[in-house]
Amino acid sequence: MTSVAQTLAEGTARLRDSSDSPHADALLLLAHALRRGRAWIVAHGDATPSIQEAEAFQHLSGERSCGVPVAYLLGSAGFYGREFLVNENVLIPRPETEHLVDEALRFIGDRPLHVLDVGTGSGAIACTIAAETNAIVCGTDISPAAVAIANENVRRWGVADRCRFYVGDLTEPVSAQRFDVVVANLPYVPTAEIAGKPDPVAYEPREALDGGPDGLALYRRLLGSLAPLVNPNALILLEAAPPTMPGLSAIAKAELPCSTVSVGRDYAGLDRYLRIDWG
Ligand SMILES: C[S@@+](CC[C@H](N)C(=O)[O-])C[C@H]1O[C@@H](n2cnc3c(N)ncnc32)[C@H](O)[C@@H]1O
Repeated sequence: MTSVAQTLAEGTARLRDSSDSPHADALLLLAHALRRGRAWIVAHGDATPSIQEAEAFQHLSGERSCGVPVAYLLGSAGFYGREFLVNENVLIPRPETEHLVDEALRFIGDRPLHVLDVGTGSGAIACTIAAETNAIVCGTDISPAAVAIANENVRRWGVADRCRFYVGDLTEPVSAQRFDVVVANLPYVPTAEIAGKPDPVAYEPREALDGGPDGLALYRRLLGSLAPLVNPNALILLEAAPPTMPGLSAIAKAELPCSTVSVGRDYAGLDRYLRIDWG
């Protein structure tokens, strides 16, 4: 019988050519297959997985070796200290988006503000803001399957009473409402660049990635629709690709002339989000 330690070593070897982090991936997948924590796996190298557990791990590591992202295999991804349900219908939340959330949380403080998350996906941004503040949060997404996941996530984190999600185009489902904060991490990869992106992009929904020819097609439309939707002194935060930030700034200044526009950086020091303080 193969021990836990041997199974882990074989899984790591299997992922060596397909993953940048073969040991970490194999450990996560083995812990998932054995329904144990990672610490248990490390501490119980002599234990023997059951046949079913070994088969489950074989399947998961096989999928991973074909490039399927770990988050989709586990059905969950970490964001801002919480685990969110994810599947192939939603983008896997990225660490760089946590900066946008930080900025929103600082602005909101303990005020019961109204927040809109456009292109909510898994609901990771919306749910985090609701869980960390007293805000009332709306989210929209063009994908009904994404909205279903967002609804599961806010139930999971006990904030469903302050979150409402709508299926529809950008701000159209909430056009009768007014907001103090608007956040958006809309698709911003220029169409021509999607094919060349490394995983997990190849497995993520195209409608979560494709930002049109210059990556700004959706933001152009969003910025054109925002003025009537925001209250005085509102804050607008938009995540985008670093090279597109000057273009996004220019659109924001043209569409929202009574506002102050600045750029925020991510963990790598790259220009990552636009901050628009509405006059
Ligand atoms: C880059 S993903 C971001 C998901 C999530 N906000 C996050 O940060 O993890 C963009 C999301 O925008 C949604 N989307 C694309 N086009 C849209 C549109 N016209 N209106 C509303 N949502 C849209 C996609 O379905 C996807 O869930």
